[in-house]
Amino acid sequence: MNLSIDQDRLTAEIDHLAQFSDAEAPAVTRVIFTPTDMKARAWIKARCEEAGLTIREDAVGNTFARWSGTDADAAVVGTGSHIDAIPNAGKYDGVVGVLGGLEAIRALHAAGFRPRHPIELLIFTSEEPTRFGIGCLGSRLLSGTLSPEAARKLRDNDGTTLEDARRQAGMKGRLEEVKLPRGYYKALVELHIEQGPLLEREGVSLGVVERIAAPASLRLTIEGAGGHAGAVLMPDRRDALCTAAELILALENTAKSTGAVDTVATVGICDVFPGAVNSIPARVRLSVDVRDTSLARRDSAMQAFETACRAIEAKRQVAIHSELLNADAPAESAPEVLAALRQACAKSGLPYLPMTSRAYHDSLFISRIAPVAMLFIPCHNGYSHRPDEYAAPEHIAKGTLVLAETLASLAG
Ligand code: HGY
Ligand code: MN
Ligand code: MN
Repeated sequence: MNLSIDQDRLTAEIDHLAQFSDAEAPAVTRVIFTPTDMKARAWIKARCEEAGLTIREDAVGNTFARWSGTDADAAVVGTGSHIDAIPNAGKYDGVVGVLGGLEAIRALHAAGFRPRHPIELLIFTSEEPTRFGIGCLGSRLLSGTLSPEAARKLRDNDGTTLEDARRQAGMKGRLEEVKLPRGYYKALVELHIEQGPLLEREGVSLGVVERIAAPASLRLTIEGAGGHAGAVLMPDRRDALCTAAELILALENTAKSTGAVDTVATVGICDVFPGAVNSIPARVRLSVDVRDTSLARRDSAMQAFETACRAIEAKRQVAIHSELLNADAPAESAPEVLAALRQACAKSGLPYLPMTSRAYHDSLFISRIAPVAMLFIPCHNGYSHRPDEYAAPEHIAKGTLVLAETLASLAG
C-alpha cells in the first residue's frame, strides 16, 4: 500500500486549530465547553465530515468520527486524543493525536485501503483537569473509571456543575449512556508528543510507549488566622501562606527522598485568601500532583507527605484539610498493540525507542476496557504545557505514517 501523508495540510491544520484560543499566540488556552472550545470542536467535526466520517457525540462531549468497516459488527479500532489545552499551553499536546489520526485515516482511504473493523477517531472530553479539577473526564466516564454520580458532583471554580456546563454546550443524553463495554474496542492507539526530552536527546523520531505512569492529585485547604499585617506580632500569628510554604518544600523533599527519579510531585496552584498586601493570609488552597511509574512508591510518597502535613499542622496550630481528587493505577500497553506498532515502525523503516509515559493520557483509562498503546514523537527540549512547545513537521508526519500503518494492520 503506497501511503502518503500530506505533511503541509496536517501542519496547516495544526496551526489553524491553534487560532481557537483564549490566550495571545503563540500560547494556546482552550478550556472545555467554552465558546473557544466549541468553535474548535465544530471546525474539527467539519474536517471529519469532509473526510467522509460519520460523527457521534456522547453526553459528555466525547466525539467519535467513524469510518465504517466492511464488517459492521466487528470490534472498533480507535485512535485519537484531546484538543483541550491548559492555560498558556502549546499547540501540539493532544492535537497531534487528533489531527494526525484524521490524516492517517485520509491517507489510508486515498491509498485504497478499506477496513474490515470500523475505525473511530476520538476526541476525548476534558483530558486536562483545568475546569473540573480531574483529568481525563471523558475517558474516565467512557471506561467506567468515574461514575456518573461522582461526575455530577464536579463543579468548576465559578460553581458551575458539569451537568449545567455540558447542557449549556449542547450535549444531550445522560452521563449513564457514556460508558462503553469491554470488547467495544479491539484496540486503541494514541499518537502524542512525548512531553519529555528523551527522543530528541537520543535522536530517535518515534517512541513506542510500553506503560503510563500512575497519576494522583489532591487539594489541600489550609485554615490559619487572618489579621492586620502591621498589628499582629509574629508569635501571635497562624499564617496560612507560611504553612503552605513549608508544605510545598515538604512535598518536594518527599519526592526527592523516595530513592527513585521516577517519583515526581508538583504544586501547580496556590490560591491565597484574602490576597491583600497588608493582610495575613487566613486561608490557602494548594493543588498537589504526585506521580510515579511504581504504584507502591507513589502511594508511599503520598503517605509520607500526609505524615508531614500532620506534623506541620500541629506545629503551626492551623487546620489542613486534604481532599483526594484521583489516585489511579498505572497502565501497561497491550502486547498485540505494541507488536502492531513495532511492525509498522519496521515497515516504515523507522527506528523507535521503547518508553514509559510520565504524563497521563486518555489511553491510561481506555486501557481499563481495551488493549491500548501509544506512539510518541519528539518535542523540542521536551517542552510541553508552555507556549514554546514544538514538534517538527517531519516528526509529526512520521508519527502519522506509522499510525496509519498500525491502524491498517489492526483494522484490516
Ligand atoms: O498532566 C498530564 O499528564 C497530561 O498532560 N494532562
Ligand atoms: Mn496536557
Ligand atoms: Mn495530552
